[in-house]
Amino acid sequence: MEIARIFGGRELCGEVSVSGAKNAALPILAACLLTDEPCILENIPNLSDIRLMISILRNVGASVEYMDTHTLKVCAEDVTSRASYEAVKKMRASVCLMGAFLGRTGHSTVSLPGGCVIGQRPIDLHIKGFKKLGCAVAMHNGYLEVNGERMVGTRIFLGGRYGSTVTGTANVLMAALGASGTTIIESAACEPEITDLCLFLRKQGALITGIGTNTLTVEGGCKLHGCRHRIIGDRIEAGTFICAALMTRGRIAIRGNTPNISSAVYDKFEEIGASVRELDDGTILVDGTKQDLRPTEVITLPYPGFPTDLQAQFCALLSCIDGISIVSERIYPSRFMHVPELNRMGANIMLEESHAIIHGSSSRQLAGAQLMASDLRASAALYLAGLCAKNETLIQRIYHLDRGYEHFEGKLRSLGASIERIKEADAEPDGGNP
Ligand code: EPZ
Repeated sequence: MEIARIFGGRELCGEVSVSGAKNAALPILAACLLTDEPCILENIPNLSDIRLMISILRNVGASVEYMDTHTLKVCAEDVTSRASYEAVKKMRASVCLMGAFLGRTGHSTVSLPGGCVIGQRPIDLHIKGFKKLGCAVAMHNGYLEVNGERMVGTRIFLGGRYGSTVTGTANVLMAALGASGTTIIESAACEPEITDLCLFLRKQGALITGIGTNTLTVEGGCKLHGCRHRIIGDRIEAGTFICAALMTRGRIAIRGNTPNISSAVYDKFEEIGASVRELDDGTILVDGTKQDLRPTEVITLPYPGFPTDLQAQFCALLSCIDGISIVSERIYPSRFMHVPELNRMGANIMLEESHAIIHGSSSRQLAGAQLMASDLRASAALYLAGLCAKNETLIQRIYHLDRGYEHFEGKLRSLGASIERIKEADAEPDGGNP
């Protein structure tokens, strides 16, 4: 098992590039099943979740080959419509194969996804959408069997108690491509990753309007063809690097970002007094050197609100800012696994239901510690805390991080961080600074 070893206290300086967005690449990989012609995808991030999705596509009959380290050629000439429990249990996002299976074959048999540490992960809205299209849905031995041989386009309201559903929108959109007639999806997710999926589907020949809004209209029955598409930059990785620069009082330029970080995020950075500027090409300039940051309140919401995937990283940042900040999690109310670990480093964060009350301090430097990562974004928050903590931080179970951050240690080292990945057995107790 590998662990991350970080010696904190170094200012991050220089340039770094974000990879392609995981949460765009995953549904778009699934959407390659909608045509029997080859699709070429550029800017694919090298992540464990992507490798898992590739293995699932191969299992269902698609050919998937790397043209270079970040370009894939996918060809699904003849596919089945069943994804096994073995595959789905490792990655919940594989549920978005359901819509692709339905759009291509009219059938889908996919194991129900389990929950995970960030909360329950129901798919009732996905099922609602399938049923509205005329699908028969049944549960057998943990598998969701969906028969959509005679799907008919219709109007579907897809909003839930937590707002829109990202992969639910992807699923219903792809299924509707196999229906006859027009489908209107109201309260659709409009995250940039869904917009990227829509643009990919449009390149395949799909007729979709309302892209980028909460109402998507899609014509079913179009014959889809192969295409070439470049995945958007990862806005959550970009936001993570912004927090890293501010926490280490460094100065960085973040390249490869697609201009789609919502103004809710920039508004929050402005509110705390951070110097963060996005150029027309998406490059983000962060200057954490001259800062007198202020506390704030954050509420996570569906796009264009503040993204839940940046909540843990922002908690780490706020714990280093003098004053009381409040972070309210409206998407996954229990998504606070990072808090007990941050408190073990000396942060002072109290949890009250779905709120974190953060007594931040810029003078009480966090102290390095042995930490346990629990999920993807919590892992990132612990890395950030280690970067600005005194002495050595060791983080276990960093396989969680590998799901969504490509070569994260290398990118941080290129900015001046003292960070490495070592075998668990090689980690002695704190040997002091290098
Ligand atoms: C996507 O998950 C992302 N994953 C998540 O990113 C992200 O946190 C989430 O959207 C919210 O932005 C991918 O895109 C692969 P949802 P998804 O369906 O689609 C409830 C990361 O760190 N809900 O938008 O599974 C649900 O419980 C990951 O990269 C229902 O009630 O999330 C949640 O509270 C973590 N019924 C809220 O809606 C449903 O049928 C949003 O869920 C579906 C969802």
